[in-house]
Amino acid sequence: MPVELAPGVPATLVMGHEDALHVLQSPERFPATSAEWQKKVPVECPVRPLLASGQTPARTSGVEHSRLRGAHMAALGRVDQHAVQAEVERDAVALINEFWHRGEAELRGQFAAPLVLAAVNRLVGLPEEMADEVARVVPALAEAGDAVAAVAGRRTLESLLGEAVLWKTTAPGADVMSWLLADDDPGWSESEVVAQLILIYEMAVEPTIGLITNAIASILTDDRMDAALGGSMSTRDVLDAVLFDNPPLAQWCVRYPQVPQLIGNVWLPAHRPVVIGLAASHRDPAIARGDRRGNRSHIAFGAGAHACLASDLALLIATVAIDQLMDAVPDMELAGELVWRPSPFHRSPTAVPVRFEPARSRPY
Ligand code: HEM
Repeated sequence: MPVELAPGVPATLVMGHEDALHVLQSPERFPATSAEWQKKVPVECPVRPLLASGQTPARTSGVEHSRLRGAHMAALGRVDQHAVQAEVERDAVALINEFWHRGEAELRGQFAAPLVLAAVNRLVGLPEEMADEVARVVPALAEAGDAVAAVAGRRTLESLLGEAVLWKTTAPGADVMSWLLADDDPGWSESEVVAQLILIYEMAVEPTIGLITNAIASILTDDRMDAALGGSMSTRDVLDAVLFDNPPLAQWCVRYPQVPQLIGNVWLPAHRPVVIGLAASHRDPAIARGDRRGNRSHIAFGAGAHACLASDLALLIATVAIDQLMDAVPDMELAGELVWRPSPFHRSPTAVPVRFEPARSRPY
């Protein structure tokens, strides 16, 4: 289906599940490298910063992609998931303790966003004194409406992470930044390591916040999910249902055919972005039948050569977040209308205002 990613920026949206898998599993026909497309798109194009090419696995193809992806996999594979679980639990309790006695909260700003950011900062090995500045600019990574703000935010983040990398070269720790720096295979410069860290912040922060907020929104508004509060669905079942019905990256996995390509009976022009409608493909009757409990055929984490490298970590963080929240404030209800963020790619509420019974003993 022809769409515009921004005024005057044409793309093709793939909506069928089989077509989506076909594109994602044919990286030689549908590479992720956007360099040619960028040459034709003006710098003020609002989605350009988000789709810009860079030497990261997300925007490379073939041998280079395998090499860079291998380095990310090696680093992320060393993360101690038990430690992540314990730290996220501790942070969740601390955040809930800040608002539980008030009887109201805004769960994106006061819970999901700080929880995820702290988890990603720790994973990366960001020096604590940089956390506030990084928190201010990280939202620019998901900015798809204002090229100036997106570029300025990315530049600031680059410079902060550049400082962090320099510091880390002298004081390595048990974290992704140190493991990437120590990886001899790519043999990369400090600025190349910064590009990898920016990709991690880009792919990890907003989508994981989106998964948590979309899950909370579903629990508060959808009777089927509400049953989760009564214990009839596991948190993992709830998260899978959310990844099906309301994936935080609703449209993503952008590919750029180098020559015209045929999908079904439609020719896709060369260098015109092909965007996978992840949310739309989940509504394809071929996979969207009946009770989907235990059905994990969604592609909310992508598929094929570029599939998400850290879906286990994202699910771990989201599971702990939802479990701690439901345990502490099971009686919460929505205290205002949900406004969904305007973006061609990300889908999550801009705020999740809730109220609950405040007159209880301290949960923890
Ligand atoms: C709910 C949270 C998340 C969602 C929905 C998500 C979704 C995705 C999707 C759809 C892709 C495929 C992109 C493509 O095909 O072009 C992807 C790739 C990727 N994700 Fe995730 N992700 C999440 C969390 C994370 C986290 C926590 C990390 C890191 C700590 C991460 C790191 C990456 C990286 C590095 C890639 C690029 C892989 C490649 O191009 O080879 N993601 N993610």
